[in-house]
This record gives sequence, C-alpha cells and structure tokens, in this order.
Amino acid sequence: MGLLPMLLLLLWPPPTRTRCPDFCSCKPDGALSCPDAGPGFTRLSLTYLPVKVIPSQAFRGLSDVLIIEISQSDSLERMEANAFDSLLNLSEILIQNTKNLVYIGPGAFTNLPRLKYLSICNTGIQKLPDVTKIFSAEFNFILEICDNLHITTIPGNAFQGMNNESATLKLYGNGFEEIQSHAFNGTTLISLDLKENKNLRKMHNDALRGATGPNVLDISSTKLEALPSYGLESVQVLIATSSYSLKKLPPREKFVSLLEATLTYPSHCCAFINLPTKDQNISLSIFENFSKQCESTARKPNNETLSESET
Ligand SMILES: *[C@@H]1O[C@H](CO)[C@@H](O)[C@H](O)[C@H]1NC(C)=O
Ligand SMILES: *[C@@H]1O[C@H](CO)[C@@H](O)[C@H](O)[C@H]1NC(C)=O
Ligand SMILES: *[C@@H]1O[C@H](CO)[C@@H](O)[C@H](O)[C@H]1NC(C)=O
Ligand SMILES: *[C@@H]1O[C@H](CO)[C@@H](O)[C@H](O)[C@H]1NC(C)=O
Ligand SMILES: *[C@@H]1O[C@H](CO)[C@@H](O)[C@H](O)[C@H]1NC(C)=O
Ligand SMILES: *[C@@H]1O[C@H](CO)[C@@H](O)[C@H](O)[C@H]1NC(C)=O
Repeated sequence: MGLLPMLLLLLWPPPTRTRCPDFCSCKPDGALSCPDAGPGFTRLSLTYLPVKVIPSQAFRGLSDVLIIEISQSDSLERMEANAFDSLLNLSEILIQNTKNLVYIGPGAFTNLPRLKYLSICNTGIQKLPDVTKIFSAEFNFILEICDNLHITTIPGNAFQGMNNESATLKLYGNGFEEIQSHAFNGTTLISLDLKENKNLRKMHNDALRGATGPNVLDISSTKLEALPSYGLESVQVLIATSSYSLKKLPPREKFVSLLEATLTYPSHCCAFINLPTKDQNISLSIFENFSKQCESTARKPNNETLSESET
C-alpha cells in the first residue's frame, strides 16, 4: 500500500459501519464472496456486512483460515448449502447477532474435519441448523446454539454426523418447545445444557436414545414437566434450578452415576436423599429452607421410600 492511500485510510474514514475485507466482495443486497486471502490468513472477521446472502463456497480458497466470525449484520438473510465447505483447517465458526438471518440451508456446514467450535446465537432462523455433515474429528466439539427465539423443535437425529468424538451441546435461551425422540442419537455427550429455554415443556422419553452421556445435564429455567426416564445413567451432575414445572423426577435408581444435584423443590431433593450407595456425594443447595427441609426428611426412618412424587 502506497503512502497516499495509507494517509487517505488514516484520514478519510468517517468510520462507516459497513466493513468488507479488501479481498472479499460485499455488494449491498448481493452475495458475499471471499475467494482468496492468500496464504497464512487465519482469521476472517466480518461485521456490519451489507450483503444478503452467504452463497455456496463463499470462502473457497481460504485454506489456512482458522476462525470465521460473522456478526452484527442486519442485512444478512440467507446462508446457502455448502456455504462453509471443505475448509480443512477451520476450527471456529461464530455467527452472532444477525437477527434477519432466517435461513441456513441444509449442508451449509459440510466437511469441516478440524472444527472445534460452532456458535450460532441471536439469529432469526426457524429451524435448528443442519450440523449433520460437519464430520468433525475433534475431541470435545462444542456446539452453541443460543438466543434463537424462532427455533421451536429439536428433531430426531439432529446432531448425527456432527462429530465422531465427544461433544458439548450448549443449547440455551432458544424458542424450543419440544425435544423429539432420538434427538441426540449418535452423539457422545459430555454436557447437555438446555437452560433458559423458557418454552421448553416436552422432552420425549426417548430423546436420549442412541446417545452416550450426558455427564452433565442442565435443565434450569425450562418448563419441563418431566425428564425422560431413559438415558440418565451417565448423568453425574444434574442442574435444575428454577424448574418450577418439574414436579416429579424419575426414580433415583435411574441416576446410577449421580454425584451432584442442584434442584428446585425440596421434593426433588427427597428423591435423592436415600441414595443406594454411600460413595455418592450429593450436594443439594438451593432454596432458603431447602436444606432444613431435606434434613428433616432425611431423619425419617431410612426405609421410607421417598423416591418420586412427594410434593
Ligand atoms: C492448514 O494448516 C497447516 C499448518 O497448520 C498448513 O500446513 C496447511 O497448508 C493448511 N491448509 C490445509 C488445507 O491443510
Ligand atoms: C474419528 O475420525 C477420525 C478421522 O476419520 C479418526 O482418526 C478417529 O479415530 C475417529 N474417532 C472415533 C472415536 O471413531
Ligand atoms: C439412530 O442412529 C443410527 C445410526 O447411528 C441409525 O441407524 C438409526 O436409524 C437411528 N435411529 C432412529 C430412530 O432414528
Ligand atoms: C463431597 O464433596 C466435597 C466437595 O465437593 C468434599 O469436600 C467432601 O469431602 C466429599 N464428601 C465425600 C463423602 O466424598
Ligand atoms: C422459610 O421458613 C420460614 C420459617 O419456617 C418461613 O417464615 C419462610 O417464609 C420460609 N421461606 C420460604 C421461601 O418458604
Ligand atoms: C421399615 O418400615 C416398616 C414399617 O413400614 C417397619 O415395620 C420395619 O421395621 C422398617 N424396617 C427398618 C429396617 O427400619
């Protein structure tokens, strides 16, 4: 860059809110294209994009890129199939605060073997994005889907093919109402975080069928009325604060690995008071009067079964 353009750059900018890296084309109301940034380009940060569409192969040629971040872009409406395709070094994709982004095509994320972190938050999408063609081979893949108020359902097999190692699902603050049968089929879950899905009322009894894990399950601030009775064997930590609709827990025999539970009602606690084995270490702490009530419950004859529906 010559001196004059440099000076112009320094002096000129009435800093417009629209930004487009110089190797990209960002035609207003058109499609983004970032064909080649040259070698060694590792982080693409796109904010205040004027484009409407991220088309197929938008980032083709960015073979070294590690992180692609798209945020604060109200113009963006669509992300087509194969938008992120075969970016073999790509490790993180962040799509945030794009409230008019209503459509992410099936297969938008395809063949991203090194992907470790995919975050899609505060968008207008109405369906859970298709992550089934990512085929990441990274250990502890993290998928974060948050604050997407128009997604109402987690359908069956939603995360199949996402990665072949363990994963953490941070699915909070969305519009979910329902989690369908086999939703987590084919995953190995370290942690499943469903907190603050304030409309989430129903989790199918077979929602966890076909999944390994989760070790940590957080259903705080949901409207869940019941937990599935199948698939709780691996849960070591259960968090259910402000789960006022959850009147009843599955029998505690289902929680064979439980080490710690944080619950909403004393009645929840009672389900765990008389644990079958002594080596389990339950810390129950929440409401003001909670521990008091639990203690008085615990002092009752210990052959009293308080497993389920005590209210
Ligand atoms: C990925 O990164 C490695 C170095 O980390 C580099 O050698 C390679 O060319 C990059 N691109 C692809 C497509 O693997
Ligand atoms: C996941 O896939 C990678 C690459 O194909 C392979 O090396 C790895 O062993 C697989 N891991 C599991 C748990 O199958
Ligand atoms: C669960 O996933 C397996 C593959 O991992 C598949 O064969 C099976 O059909 C799936 N089950 C349902 C009910 O979708
Ligand atoms: C229970 O866990 C606490 C800390 O998490 C620890 O200090 C305590 O010793 C544990 N008790 C047992 C019986 O393992
Ligand atoms: C806790 O117990 C005290 C006295 O037993 C009672 O006055 C108070 O309202 C209780 N608090 C809650 C939140 O239930
Ligand atoms: C259990 O409770 C019954 C009464 O419901 C009582 O007869 C019995 O002795 C109790 N057993 C133990 C081990 O406390």
